[in-house]
Amino acid sequence: MTRSSRISGFYKRSLKERSQLVGEWAGLTPHEQDVLEGLSGLNAGQAEHMIENAIGVYALPLGIATNFLVNGKDYLVPMVIEEPSVVAAVSNAARLFREGGGFITSSDEPIMIGQIQVLDLVDVNAAAEIVLAHKAELMAEADKVGGSIVRHGGGARDIQVRPILNSSVGPMLIVHLLYDTQDAMGANAINTAVEHLAPQIEMLTGGRVNLRILSNLTDQRKARAEGMIPARELASDHMRGEEAVQSIVEAGVFAEVDPYRATTHNKGIMNGIDAVVIATGNDWRAIEAGAHAYAARNGQYTSLSKWWQDADGNLRGSIELPLALGTVGGATKVHPAAGLALKILGTQSARELAEITASVGLAQNLAAIKALATEGIQRGHMRMHARQLAVAAGASGELVGRVVQAMVKEGNIRLERAKVLVLELASNPVYNPVAGAD
Ligand code: MEV
Repeated sequence: MTRSSRISGFYKRSLKERSQLVGEWAGLTPHEQDVLEGLSGLNAGQAEHMIENAIGVYALPLGIATNFLVNGKDYLVPMVIEEPSVVAAVSNAARLFREGGGFITSSDEPIMIGQIQVLDLVDVNAAAEIVLAHKAELMAEADKVGGSIVRHGGGARDIQVRPILNSSVGPMLIVHLLYDTQDAMGANAINTAVEHLAPQIEMLTGGRVNLRILSNLTDQRKARAEGMIPARELASDHMRGEEAVQSIVEAGVFAEVDPYRATTHNKGIMNGIDAVVIATGNDWRAIEAGAHAYAARNGQYTSLSKWWQDADGNLRGSIELPLALGTVGGATKVHPAAGLALKILGTQSARELAEITASVGLAQNLAAIKALATEGIQRGHMRMHARQLAVAAGASGELVGRVVQAMVKEGNIRLERAKVLVLELASNPVYNPVAGAD
């Protein structure tokens, strides 16, 4: 069946209709549908088995980004996020990329790095040579504790050494185990492997092993996405398409050269990435740590994306970052909604998930810098802010839209005004729809 994620007016439908549409898309059962709508799903009993001292669960909105076309395949993308505008903005951006053929992506093999810190060495360089000379036997030893990952074709891929000749605690040798974790994020597998290797490393080098832990700078496990937006798609009443392309490229270069801007630019990228990472039950702190370390890999913190004008005058963007995401293990299977997020995405492949997530990051970035470089973001944001105030003031259902409409029209977006409007408009039957993503 060919199906399109280009669903015009998705935002205009009721929550129930949207949920049903996504349910049909993914072939969800009635119970799974209930999980999506928060009627069932993660409960305190399950939470108790996830963390210590659990006292309950904490819910966040789950939205769907539409319009994603990645390597010619359509995706509806689940996103968990508390910030308004993000899902609407990324859906709009994905629609623009779609006009240019969608995203083209690639990714590395799922190679994680495990680190072993060796101290008290007489000669760090000599110890490094010894470790390298025993590479094959160390890799074979690591695979002995690899369990199902090794049975599925993963396991040790390389041993590397990083001698550090000077530090405040003396010289040390860092041994890296490169390990293919297949469709798992792989933290447990890699930590088990490096703990297992430590005694052998001590025996070979005569040193003392201190830390044995994975690195979250997973720069062997990157995902990339690239896409084009025809200049005509960026034209507006205030700006020609070519002008918008130029302003967006200038915004991108600003983030490349200035760490202050790069931080905010990358925060916008992570708005999209984290939302998918959370929806799929992955460790977003690990992804955040890796992304920012990668952004600073050359000594100056810079942008994770690049924007340029191609020979035809159209806008092109690309992104590359470490994305150690799993589709098995961890919370991906324990959290009922995480499994459903993967079902909606229609993949069980960790690499495919990473590539979709990179595309979301690029789209989110485009949405932000396009708004910033053209009309500014406050106009759209204020409407969403008004929605939050209306709800905080006690509005629900269709009254929210009318309170928002009134506040925007008056240019008076404050909680006090929202409270007054809730009282005034509650008895007024006129309905005003609110804007959203197309
Ligand atoms: C807000 O959550 C994200 C932005 O600040 C990102 C950016 O400035 O590029 C809009």
